Amino acid sequence: MADSKSKSKKKAEDGTGGETPKDWNPRIVGFLCNWCSYTGADLAGVSRLQYTPEFIPIRVMCSGSVDVAYILKALLEGADGVFVGGCHLGDCHYLNGNYKARRRVVVVKEVLEGIGIDPRRLHLEWVSASESGKFAKVVSTFDQTLRELGPNPLAKERLL
Ligand code: FES
Repeated sequence: MADSKSKSKKKAEDGTGGETPKDWNPRIVGFLCNWCSYTGADLAGVSRLQYTPEFIPIRVMCSGSVDVAYILKALLEGADGVFVGGCHLGDCHYLNGNYKARRRVVVVKEVLEGIGIDPRRLHLEWVSASESGKFAKVVSTFDQTLRELGPNPLAKERLL
């Protein structure tokens, strides 16, 4: 009992919002590249692989098109975490979009850390169209990380 109290206190000190509601499940906004991760996610669904139903997929043409503003807006509007999925390095259909995504994610993580938000709330992963198992696994691992972090304190209200 004392352990859970100290956990809640620690979360409050970390700016993660303190007590976690019992019925809370992390909400994840996923920006998925049309050519790989989105297809991998689709295949995971068709193959009936299990991952959180609180994952909201948004199809983009390339991970390089995921603007910093998209990520911050998702976090401000109620997402507990943001997942960016792109083609493996060297496989981007627009040559270097995923390299841009990688650089952008590093910057956003620094910004999040600077404002007291755990940078683990943003996750970048390369998932090809055939890697449905990998997709389900990395989303589940991300979901678990968010459960440990608790609700996103940056979210003003749950609009998602
Ligand atoms: S086309 Fe998939 S990451 Fe660029």
